[in-house]
Amino acid sequence: MPSISNKGKQMPASPIRKLVPYAEAAKKLGTHVIHLNIGQPDIKTPKVALDAVRNHNIEVLAYSMTEGSEIYREKIAAYYAKKDIHVSAKDIIVTTGGSEALSFAMGTIMDAEDEIIIPEPFYANYNGFATAAGVNVVPIASSIDTNFALPPIKEFEKLITPKTKAILICNPGNPTGYLYSKEEILQLAEMVKKHNLFLIADEVYREFTYEGKTHYSILQVEGLEEYAIVIDSVSKRYSMCGARIGCLVSKNKEVIQTALKFAQARLSPPTFAQIASEAALETPQEYFDAVIEEYVSRRNILISELQKLEGVKVAVPQGAFYCVVELPVEDADDFAQWLLESFEMDGNTVMVAPAAGFYATPGLGKNQIRIAYVLEKEQLVKAVQILGKALTKYNDR
Ligand SMILES: Cc1ncc(COP(=O)(O)O)c(C=O)c1O
Repeated sequence: MPSISNKGKQMPASPIRKLVPYAEAAKKLGTHVIHLNIGQPDIKTPKVALDAVRNHNIEVLAYSMTEGSEIYREKIAAYYAKKDIHVSAKDIIVTTGGSEALSFAMGTIMDAEDEIIIPEPFYANYNGFATAAGVNVVPIASSIDTNFALPPIKEFEKLITPKTKAILICNPGNPTGYLYSKEEILQLAEMVKKHNLFLIADEVYREFTYEGKTHYSILQVEGLEEYAIVIDSVSKRYSMCGARIGCLVSKNKEVIQTALKFAQARLSPPTFAQIASEAALETPQEYFDAVIEEYVSRRNILISELQKLEGVKVAVPQGAFYCVVELPVEDADDFAQWLLESFEMDGNTVMVAPAAGFYATPGLGKNQIRIAYVLEKEQLVKAVQILGKALTKYNDR
């Protein structure tokens, strides 16, 4: 049989999805599985976006411009301007989700064997994009004890080699929920300029910040224009994960020109979904106010319930809709599987994402899980009760 590539063999399986067969088996046995493991919001997509597709009398579903429709990019620029981010339509390439923007960014600035430094734990698919690009991820550990704040700059500097091309951050963070402060962003900006590196910021959760905190984008840093690349997406902002629309934004012309060549190879982002995404920009502020209020109350109840459990430590998230939780178990992978295979409480169990898959350093995060609070409050409370009971039973085995 012809052999597949080493790259293919090295592609990591998603840590979020690897427990799916166990969840399916539990469901077949009649157990109700509460999904705390996925980042698919249960929030309704704005009506304006869905109506734009419903009411469109398109006759030929043609390709769009490679970089995305001009009017849509102009409207995206206007959206950024409201956030005090000043870019123009030509600084934007519309992509098939933030995912494609990430792979374009890596392809644009990195060659095989180049290195990218990423604070861990990080969005696990960064490993997949890096492997596909032949790029090596160099992790730098952040700690649950500091809520996953930015590691000290001197720790980053210890990791910089002639192969280092970029630093990648996720702000607010998946899975940490950490929101980098303006000061932290400015420190990073100084460092990348000093060492001549790109700074990529995945800002797909920009809207989701709590306790009155505001998001500070790397595109707001003066003097960082040639270094900054932002990854964005409509998936979470408008609960439009299935639209598959995102964008790559940079004031660096060479970055945009090069990324455009990658974009040309795949011809165009999805046309219908751009129509929906363009309309989504008309979403009234009240929609976001209500969504944020909902996430805040979910977060508050989830955290306070978790804090009641003995031996459980949780990093309080200030953004996005995830948190990392340390459990009184040695191996959260084993515990997560056991929850699905061997435990139920009144016919219910929970599915969580073991956090080890969000770390690149072997051994880190072994006793941690990630919880996504994309379910209604009653479900979250019930899920934590199940977790509490399950922990006692698991540790008494
Ligand atoms: C941090 C982060 N970046 C990027 C993505 C990719 O999202 P999409 O391709 O749907 O825009 C996700 C999806 O969960 C994410 O959590």
